[in-house]
Amino acid sequence: MAEVAFGGSAEKISLEEVGLRFEVDGEIATITLDRPEKRNAQTFATWSALAQIGDTLPQQVRIVVIRGEGPSFSAGIDLRMFTPEGVPGQGSFAASATLDSSTFEQRIAQAQQGFLWLRRPDIVSVAAVQGHAIGAGFQLALACDLRVLADDAKLCMKEPALGLVPDLTGTKPLVDLVGLSRAVEICLTARTVGAEEAARLGLAELVVAPQELDGAVRDLTAALLATGRDAATATKRLLQGASGRTLEEQCAAERREQVVRIKSLFAGS
Ligand code: ACO
Repeated sequence: MAEVAFGGSAEKISLEEVGLRFEVDGEIATITLDRPEKRNAQTFATWSALAQIGDTLPQQVRIVVIRGEGPSFSAGIDLRMFTPEGVPGQGSFAASATLDSSTFEQRIAQAQQGFLWLRRPDIVSVAAVQGHAIGAGFQLALACDLRVLADDAKLCMKEPALGLVPDLTGTKPLVDLVGLSRAVEICLTARTVGAEEAARLGLAELVVAPQELDGAVRDLTAALLATGRDAATATKRLLQGASGRTLEEQCAAERREQVVRIKSLFAGS
């Protein structure tokens, strides 16, 4: 069984203990948040495990689907973090507050590693979201390239209402997708965004009935896999860089990628 170390601890725990399942079927990997009785609440161990899955992802994998078992995609960070006792073996915010700032930032950076790899150009990540995606749950969905929502999906950036900021990589994709003004409104009101509005705002590629969620993700995945790996990777890399480049720079990047593509397809022909 896959094991993971977290929080700088040498202790190893299984993915099952962390509340995750990880399955690979050919080119498709599926990560399931599997603590439905706690609405798939996340801990530092969840994020360490996600990072480790990213680090050890089998080479053939091209699509990573993230889904949640039960009625909610994820109710966000485990609320025990706010209690003096914290999450057993993983501490509490009260304990973290006693760390020096750079050590604490380092710990957050480790947590962010669980999310950042989902943007790798050689994979496409897809979040399949039903029910609540709150706080860290919303950010996990935002960490993916694409989001397929059940029509009962409820997205909420709850952190500011709890005195925190969203720090699990979610602020940039949120602003990129909905624009600064709407992102400020969504975060500072901590209101719930329903599936239909999410689609309108660009937070979802597709909204389907809950019973059609898995099938819709399967269809999307099959369609994505119809494009060859190298062209898909190069195109994603190009698109990811576009917002940070001028038109001229982007044209140069297109030329560079295309020369590599055509040389690799037609060299010697
Ligand atoms: N952390 C720990 N346990 C949780 C969490 C959580 N984030 N969310 C739900 N649970 C537990 C509940 O305590 C309950 O446990 P119990 O059966 O032992 O009492 C169980 O999951 C089911 O929760 P309910 O509230 O009964 O489920 P319901 O479907 O009615 O509501 C909802 C779901 C709306 C998600 C609600 O549980 C909720 O509001 N959760 C807290 C959300 C939150 O504030 N998350 C933190 C966001 S900030 C961040 O992520 C950084």
